[in-house]
Amino acid sequence: MSTEPHRGPAILTELSPADFRARLPELLAVYVAAMRYPRGTEYHRAPMWSEHSARSGWQAFAASLPEDPDTVVGVAYGYRGDSRQWWNQQVRTGMRHSGRSPEAIDRILADYFELTELHVRPDMQGRGIGELLLHALLRDRTEAAVLLSTPEVAGEDNRAWRLYRRFGFQDIVRRFVFTGDARPFAVLGRRLPLEPDLLPHSPGTNDDPDGSGAP
Ligand SMILES: CC(C)(COP(=O)(O)OP(=O)(O)OC[C@H]1O[C@@H](n2cnc3c(N)ncnc32)[C@H](O)[C@@H]1OP(=O)(O)O)[C@@H](O)C(=O)NCCC(=O)NCCS
Repeated sequence: MSTEPHRGPAILTELSPADFRARLPELLAVYVAAMRYPRGTEYHRAPMWSEHSARSGWQAFAASLPEDPDTVVGVAYGYRGDSRQWWNQQVRTGMRHSGRSPEAIDRILADYFELTELHVRPDMQGRGIGELLLHALLRDRTEAAVLLSTPEVAGEDNRAWRLYRRFGFQDIVRRFVFTGDARPFAVLGRRLPLEPDLLPHSPGTNDDPDGSGAP
């Protein structure tokens, strides 16, 4: 029997809010496994994920393998940012403390897509599935920018950081501590739309062509 990991393309399925809510347990299982959170975390997260699916501009994709299309191995979703959202308010505070001008903060937060969750089951990581999900989620967005937060990691040495840097994400706030979570996070962002050549698996496409940096 072959022990080679799967290398072929994953199948991506765009989820309606109803599909997403119906499949929450399996989607959350991918999240808990990917983040290595303790079992039971999914029960706390379920109401929040469900509420997110009702937000303006919400969009989600699930990934599976062609040979087992009913098993979810990756999930990604996000929605349009809004000043009434907790995350927006937290990031605004972080940007203020990091010395950005009120004008710059308003401009960045005026029109963005929040990449809220992106996770691939641990045994399926490193095969380009996260990259496919990220590309699918961003390719048709109409917002001016995409923002996300990710835990700080020494040397930016994990798959999430490498993926975001490959996609041209730049620093918005570093070492930010969100209320209620002691871990430092980075807030990263990039302008949209994606460059046409930023297709999955195309190397060397994370340059900032006009050198002006993040959103
Ligand atoms: C972050 C995460 C979603 C990325 O998904 P992924 O599928 O593992 O990552 P990618 O799509 O970037 O995989 C590409 C990697 O596989 C390698 N690869 C192997 N075969 C490949 C192929 N056919 N196509 C593309 N990449 C391939 C690439 O070289 C790259 O390696 P690298 O990470 O060492 O640079 C995933 O690792 C994850 O769920 N991590 C834990 C949870 C997490 O941190 N989520 C983000 C929180 S903000």
